[in-house]
Amino acid sequence: MNRVYISDLSQHVGQTVELRGWVYNTRSSGKIKFLLLRDGTGVCQCVYFKGDCNPESFEAFEKLTQESCVYVTGTVKEEKRSPGGYELSAKNLTIHSIAAEYPISPKEHGTDFLMNHRHLWLRSSRQHAALRVRHEIIKSIRDFFDGRGFTLVDAPIFTPSACEGTSTLFQTNYFDEKAYLSQSGQLYNEAGAAAFGKVYCFGPTFRAEKSKTRRHLIEFWMVEPEVAFADLYENMELAEQFVEYIVQRVLKNRAEELRVLERNTAALEKIQAPFPRLHYNEAAELILKENPEFKKGDDFGGTDETIVSSKFDRPVFVHHYPAAVKAFYMKRDPSDEVSSLSCDLLATEGYGEIIGGGQREDDLEKLFSRIHEHGLREQDFSWYLDLRKYGTFPHSGFGLGVERTVAWICGLPHVRETAPFPRLYGRMYP
Ligand code: 4AD
Ligand code: MG
Repeated sequence: MNRVYISDLSQHVGQTVELRGWVYNTRSSGKIKFLLLRDGTGVCQCVYFKGDCNPESFEAFEKLTQESCVYVTGTVKEEKRSPGGYELSAKNLTIHSIAAEYPISPKEHGTDFLMNHRHLWLRSSRQHAALRVRHEIIKSIRDFFDGRGFTLVDAPIFTPSACEGTSTLFQTNYFDEKAYLSQSGQLYNEAGAAAFGKVYCFGPTFRAEKSKTRRHLIEFWMVEPEVAFADLYENMELAEQFVEYIVQRVLKNRAEELRVLERNTAALEKIQAPFPRLHYNEAAELILKENPEFKKGDDFGGTDETIVSSKFDRPVFVHHYPAAVKAFYMKRDPSDEVSSLSCDLLATEGYGEIIGGGQREDDLEKLFSRIHEHGLREQDFSWYLDLRKYGTFPHSGFGLGVERTVAWICGLPHVRETAPFPRLYGRMYP
């Protein structure tokens, strides 16, 4: 028997094929029974006509429960009313397993219930669509950098030092030493940039953030390019071309998924470079008008980011944040030492920061004193300081968080639905 996937049915019109999958829904009315079959690639209506199909199969149909695993054979025909546009005139039904009463039903379930059943929730159409968009985003990330002469140089997960401050470090044992799970591959990427010119790393990163917000995960994927001889402004140009590319790829290749997610695609169509750029001081002025609690010099909170981004229909860069609110490696503006050559990209529609980056400090003495000022241990960074000793060079880079980008592009209210098995503060199950 010709076993096919539902997504390929268009190539088999008129043929007798076998579909294998799970029961999505059933409906009977006397002489005719309908089975909606889901196989992961799509949903197909299978129609059993009494007299037209095998009598045992017609009988067996009554035993089916939601998510039972079945094999169906029949003839493929075009049918506009079937979910994917094709229908099976079914002849046979083989039951591989009858599912116990399925816990997820079309009725509203609480978030906690759904998160506890994440392993099953993945089968639902919205979750399915969001993860297909995630896949497209990951593929487009790789295609973008691979197509522009970047070399993939992955960074380690076990690290001896902190990249993004010591307050969110995950500590673990590395035999007799202490190790931390990577918060960012950046420091290793800088070594990569000196070796290869244009590099990126892409992998999971970890932050022990004790905050339950809709933007924070404990484990998330980050892609980080690092470019030798790029300054802050070239870094922003790369970032905007990159984000435009990802959004336009999803619009082109995942229209059906965006439809399932009810995403406003008109808003996404507008995501085209160049993106507006605001100096921190300009952004601070906008925030001060709407948030009396904000003080100039502060880092932005979620509300502050929303105030700034709500003024634009494209993502907006904020650059030159005060050095005091940024990491030790940020280069200061030579003409204004309190400001750093940093840039964040704030997404539209209140999704907040999706990119953080900037130009790196390339002066050995300055970097050395920053490491001390930030209370970091010199011996952990001696390899990093070597990059300033042996041919120090201007360079810049950034990190884009995959899950926040997926949430934004899909229009999902919370990052918990953007990863197959998200790790959140207070949740590590399933
Ligand atoms: O702004 P961050 O902390 O920047 C860095 O880690 C730099 N070392 C990157 C670089 O320059 N190579 O993080 C970068 C991005 C954020 O803009 C956000 O999208 C995401 O990573 N991110 C998180 N996503 C989900 N949950 C969290 N807890 C996140 N923390 C950061
Ligand atoms: Mg940041």
